[in-house]
Amino acid sequence: MKTTSLVAAVLLAACTDAAIPAGGISKFARKDDHASSPPHYPSPWMDPEAPGWENAYASAREFVSQLTLPEKVNLTTGVGWMGERCVGNAGSIPRLGMRGLCMQDGPLGIRLSDYNSAFPGGITAGASWSRKLWHERGLLMGTEANEKGIDVLLGPASGPLGRAPTGGRNWEGFTVDPYMAGIALAQTSVGIQDGGVIATAKHYIGNEQEHFRQAPEAIGYGFNITESSSSNIDDKTLHELYVWPFADAVRAGVGAVMCSYQQVNNSYSCQNSKIINGILKDELGFQGFVMSDWQAQHAGAATAAAGLDMSMPGDTSFNTGLSYWGANLTLAVINGTVPEWRIDDMAMRIMASFFKVGRTVETMPDINFSSWSRDTFGYVQSAAKENWDQINYGVDVRHDHGKHIREAAAKGSVVLKNTGSLPLNKPKFVAVIGEDAGSNPAGPNGCSDRGCDDGTLAMAWGSGTSQFSYLVTPDAALQFQAIEDGTRYESILNNNRWAQVSQLIAQPNVTAIVFANADSGEGYINVDGNEGDRKNLTLWKEGDELIKNVSSICPNTIVVLHTVGPVLLTEWYDNPNITAIVWAGLPGQESGNSITDILYGKTSPGRSPFTWGRTRKSYGTDVLYDANNGQGAPQQEFSEGVFIDYRHFDRNSPSTDGTASSDDAAPLYEFGFGLSWSTFEYSSLEIQPHIDTIYEPTSGDTIAAPELGNFSIDLADYTFPSDIRYIYQFIYPWLNTSSSGKEASADPYYGQTADQFLPPKAVDGSPQPKNPAGGAPGGNPGLWDVLYTVSATVTNTGDVTTDEIPQLYISLGGKNEPVRVLRGFERIEGIAAGQSVIFTADITRRDLSNWDITAQNWVITKHEKKVFVGSSSRNLPLSAVLE
Ligand SMILES: *[C@@H]1O[C@H](CO)[C@@H](O)[C@H](O)[C@H]1NC(C)=O
Ligand SMILES: *[C@@H]1O[C@H](CO)[C@@H](O)[C@H](O)[C@H]1NC(C)=O
Ligand SMILES: *[C@@H]1O[C@H](CO)[C@@H](O)[C@H](O)[C@H]1NC(C)=O
Ligand SMILES: *[C@@H]1O[C@H](CO)[C@@H](O)[C@H](O)[C@H]1NC(C)=O
Ligand SMILES: *[C@@H]1O[C@H](CO)[C@@H](O)[C@H](O)[C@H]1NC(C)=O
Ligand SMILES: *[C@@H]1O[C@H](CO)[C@@H](O)[C@H](O)[C@H]1NC(C)=O
Ligand SMILES: *[C@@H]1O[C@H](CO)[C@@H](O)[C@H](O)[C@H]1NC(C)=O
Ligand SMILES: *[C@@H]1O[C@H](CO)[C@@H](O)[C@H](O)[C@H]1NC(C)=O
Ligand SMILES: *[C@@H]1O[C@H](CO)[C@@H](O)[C@H](O)[C@H]1NC(C)=O
Ligand SMILES: *[C@@H]1O[C@H](CO)[C@@H](O)[C@H](O)[C@H]1NC(C)=O
Repeated sequence: MKTTSLVAAVLLAACTDAAIPAGGISKFARKDDHASSPPHYPSPWMDPEAPGWENAYASAREFVSQLTLPEKVNLTTGVGWMGERCVGNAGSIPRLGMRGLCMQDGPLGIRLSDYNSAFPGGITAGASWSRKLWHERGLLMGTEANEKGIDVLLGPASGPLGRAPTGGRNWEGFTVDPYMAGIALAQTSVGIQDGGVIATAKHYIGNEQEHFRQAPEAIGYGFNITESSSSNIDDKTLHELYVWPFADAVRAGVGAVMCSYQQVNNSYSCQNSKIINGILKDELGFQGFVMSDWQAQHAGAATAAAGLDMSMPGDTSFNTGLSYWGANLTLAVINGTVPEWRIDDMAMRIMASFFKVGRTVETMPDINFSSWSRDTFGYVQSAAKENWDQINYGVDVRHDHGKHIREAAAKGSVVLKNTGSLPLNKPKFVAVIGEDAGSNPAGPNGCSDRGCDDGTLAMAWGSGTSQFSYLVTPDAALQFQAIEDGTRYESILNNNRWAQVSQLIAQPNVTAIVFANADSGEGYINVDGNEGDRKNLTLWKEGDELIKNVSSICPNTIVVLHTVGPVLLTEWYDNPNITAIVWAGLPGQESGNSITDILYGKTSPGRSPFTWGRTRKSYGTDVLYDANNGQGAPQQEFSEGVFIDYRHFDRNSPSTDGTASSDDAAPLYEFGFGLSWSTFEYSSLEIQPHIDTIYEPTSGDTIAAPELGNFSIDLADYTFPSDIRYIYQFIYPWLNTSSSGKEASADPYYGQTADQFLPPKAVDGSPQPKNPAGGAPGGNPGLWDVLYTVSATVTNTGDVTTDEIPQLYISLGGKNEPVRVLRGFERIEGIAAGQSVIFTADITRRDLSNWDITAQNWVITKHEKKVFVGSSSRNLPLSAVLE
């Protein structure tokens, strides 16, 4: 989030408004050169009978029917950046006693607040593979948000999915696998909404890197470009990979979806009618509202027609005092460019989500914190410096959430190597080495939005962060454990004290635990030359050299890594002196306690939610670091299709027996891998087919678009009321003048842009044919028919009670298909020594289908379908053909 100049904003507006017709071709990207997006209009309106939304729809209809046009516009448009206390604040409806909705980051808990919990990062939550913990994490985050007065929490994320291992924000999501990400996204969304707050599935879609996501940001890094990059994604890949998790969240009833910064096929994500109207609202039947990422909106009427429902933070770019919506949206409805049913549908979607999670206008809690200051008193309207009042009440919303955080981060730690040193049991002497085990000298919140890499890494940087109310460092917790055990303990929390380190670890009886990290984050912060995205896949701050140095001397070296994703371990992982490697991810506030629980075997570890390759090149995909289209939108071709992470590794270096290959193309540790405290045997694969149902394409027509209320077209009825005091830079729904639309809009292109280019279908409110692949939230309900139930016996053949995470993969067959894709998993807790448990997984029609670009629907191809069960993507002892 950087402040962009007004000049840049106007420029963007001018050249993107004209870009709408074919889905938006920038003037620098000629249609015949670059991918384009087909138009999809009209924007689908809510379905009163959508399963799970019926009551919310009825309540919303009753509420919205009472609203005037400016009141509806207020619901859709933020008051401007830092206008009020939350990171996003919609307009209010004082006449009906409704304060403006409060939108607050983010995916691991509340940002810019106090007395809140700092949960594990998404990637660590993902590594637990635990539906129960995902739901619980969501619920606790939702509860905290609710108690601070937040209405909409800006998470969870499954975009970026993790196309490039160096992608800066991959860690905000759970995993690179879409099937697993979908379940995590849905569980978390349901959890948040069970906490009484609207969840936001983001970022929709194709936002796979930070570089070039926003032109002004890229200009700040020295790239002279005028447009955000375009993610050019083919239809099959979009459906099978990137949209897949969103479908699960939509099916689970998520209330909001945030559209992303960059373009898809040269049309901005927040005005791409194909991805919003076509895929999200028509095909997936999304009933909630689409909100723009902050400054991701680049046009007015065109975004409304393309399906955007809420403009955040409301101003054209931060603090311009102008808006693509606000007064412009009021005008666009009056002059007929945006049909009344569309503004009604926007208001309906926002209010239906609000009611769906149990909120009511009468019981809306007070907002009792301010994002912009930790002072008790300050300006409620921060940007305008107006309304001095108490802004922070220090309401403690943490309860006992630390327990969950400690457990979730431990269960999301992955033991990659263990030749016998773990679990630790009253060791004689522990030496902890490395800055990553200690505290940041500037304090746990010493760097704004965690934009530095000092001390232990417990969350990465950007808007997806929160303030720590405490941070248990590994040094503190391990020392505490050592004292309890009578262990001698010394730590050197600096990577550059080799003289002292070498002396310490050369002593007899030492267990050396070396900590190192690798960080990344959001593009508006550059840490050590990493402009959001990582510039390499190695450890930071000479971590590799430190590990190599320690292990060259100490025969019992344990490595603990806090990283945002994969790093290259190739140079040292096989040193026999390195007796264990633990990936501790981004654990959140209980970091030290969580890693102690794992190192001492008090908790069962997780499994890797991504592949650990041997070389950076072996991933086959990377960030686009250079502008490749002159001053036009950098073109990012997703030409690898669905072959990211293990799908790519399996194709390049197939293996079925799980044996490590020294081939550079083979993973060091594969997706789904992780050691446990015991050994497990897999047996008795059984497949139970169910009565085959027929997949019925959805047919029939929607209702006509409802129009709720009426409005005058006399501009004089919409001028700024004399009894309201204008707040500096605030975005209002009212007009500054009624002399003419052009003057009221202050838009030099008024009457020439949107209305000239918007397809006539954009205003068509007549009944529309239903999408054959759609029909209910998530898509055609037949996709969830269970066609097979697969079960296998999992036996603990060791002598320790621990968790096992059986995984099921399916080969869908056909050339140009992945060798296998994940289609089932379960974290089975506490399997006793000698005990056998049954792992079962339901295989749905969707699980067996591919997206057919000709049929524009899911089909089960004729190719043989084979199911595999085992403990990782490459250790799959059981298999059978699905008949
Ligand atoms: C993007 O272009 C590709 C290639 O032409 C096409 O398959 C895909 O459907 C397009 N996607 C969108 C969202 O426009
Ligand atoms: C719109 O919201 C603003 C900011 O909360 C408020 O001052 C104004 O009264 C609202 N307008 C209407 C029509 O309710
Ligand atoms: C970007 O390029 C334009 C056109 O070539 C030029 O006018 C402008 O000065 C350049 N801006 C920067 C920051 O280099
Ligand atoms: C209306 O939108 C245009 C861009 O489409 C912008 O230039 C203008 O400033 C906006 N007007 C207001 C009053 O915010
Ligand atoms: C904080 O928010 C909670 C939940 O709405 C509310 O009960 C409480 O009164 C608020 N506290 C303060 C001090 O405003
Ligand atoms: C400690 O080190 C000494 C000297 O190398 C060795 O004799 C002894 O067995 C070690 N003790 C333990 C508990 O490892
Ligand atoms: C990779 O980047 C990190 C962080 O900027 C840096 O500390 C490290 O030296 C880099 N690695 C290499 C091999 O250049
Ligand atoms: C590694 O050891 C060498 C000497 O062998 C020393 O010069 C260097 O500073 C050490 N580096 C670290 C990070 O410990
Ligand atoms: C392992 O440590 C011993 C010292 O205990 C050292 O002599 C040896 O070279 C180390 N091995 C490797 C491969 O670094
Ligand atoms: C209607 O108003 C919108 C918003 O100001 C503007 O963009 C559009 O050009 C106007 N259309 C007509 C036909 O005047």
